[in-house]
Amino acid sequence: MSVRIGPYTLANQVFAAPMAGVTDRPFRQLCKALGAGYAVSEMVTSRPDLWASLKTSRRANHDGEPGPIAVQIAGTDAEMMADAARYNLERGAQIIDINMGCPAKKVCNKWAGSALMQNEALAVEIAQAVVEACAPHGVPVTLKMRTGWCDAHRNAVALATRFEAVGIQMLTVHGRTREQGYKGFAEYDTIAAVKAAVRVPVVANGDITSPEKARAVLAHTGADAVMVGRAAQGRPWIFREIVHFLQTGEHLAPPLVAELRRLLLAHLQDHYALYGESTGVRSARKHIAWYVQGLPGGDAFRRVMNGIEDSAAQWQAVADYLDALAAQMDRLPAAGARAAGEGVPAAHTTTSEWV
Ligand SMILES: Cc1cc2nc3c(=O)[nH]c(=O)nc-3n(C[C@H](O)[C@H](O)[C@H](O)COP(=O)(O)O)c2cc1C
Repeated sequence: MSVRIGPYTLANQVFAAPMAGVTDRPFRQLCKALGAGYAVSEMVTSRPDLWASLKTSRRANHDGEPGPIAVQIAGTDAEMMADAARYNLERGAQIIDINMGCPAKKVCNKWAGSALMQNEALAVEIAQAVVEACAPHGVPVTLKMRTGWCDAHRNAVALATRFEAVGIQMLTVHGRTREQGYKGFAEYDTIAAVKAAVRVPVVANGDITSPEKARAVLAHTGADAVMVGRAAQGRPWIFREIVHFLQTGEHLAPPLVAELRRLLLAHLQDHYALYGESTGVRSARKHIAWYVQGLPGGDAFRRVMNGIEDSAAQWQAVADYLDALAAQMDRLPAAGARAAGEGVPAAHTTTSEWV
């Protein structure tokens, strides 16, 4: 089943979730190369005073990324959001995604992200202003939200119909309320209700960690696609695993250690090229930690690697670790067999990096 967003037909129905501080251009490219049918950039602020900052310009970097290029914007003011959309489409965005799913405090205090779900009039005003800014350029606008503000106020269905009415062309729903943050479990009944209420494509998101879970969520919600976030950290090949399973009902073998070596070392080179030496070495650590999590010797390697301050030395340490691993095994252990490693940055604790 293929999903269309405006003029774009996506490669498949397994998408990479936007994760600030994680899904930068090198990681998105890797996810797409390993099977993701679509990937959305980390959110870009609607504050023009920050557009020239290094962080924002890195986030707006799409050099060499296969299309469609989807840029997520976040903010609290309809006109500023419209300007942010125009700014990004002048810089190559082919799809604009509005963030109404982020629970980070810094954003919520300013009424952005999922806090907007509490103010339906403003949320719809923003969606409409962004659609109006993009329509003359033929650029579709999509939106990502949660199931509601809190348990007693699950308004995703009501909002979804209003968003569709003002021209939003795809809706992604993370099956948690804003109040939940990342606690508890994602629920999929509200996503099913959203899907039943609108005609635009609906994407189900939250706690999809395996091919079986993806299939079950698609079946339960009737959604057009699934979106995977944290489970792709250090495991970007999860996209091809899910796609293959959905198509055939069979599991792909885990990657060869030689493949991990090739793709991780290439990922690091792209990462250093985008961030430069000192930021690059530090921000690569979390990716490396996720990749080696649960692998033999992974914990000890991570501790050593965290003390390395030089990109060439970090790259070589990773190469040496994976050479040693290749001497022990051909393939990575199956995902379920990779026990959680102690001290690895928890996939959901980096909300300070969201803005
Ligand atoms: C570190 C991190 C950063 C995130 N940044 C964003 C973001 O910039 N925009 C957004 O809409 N959602 C963001 N999210 C939420 C994810 O897109 C996704 O909705 C959430 O992680 C649930 O999916 P999962 O269970 O597959 O991880 C972020 C999540 C994490 C863990």
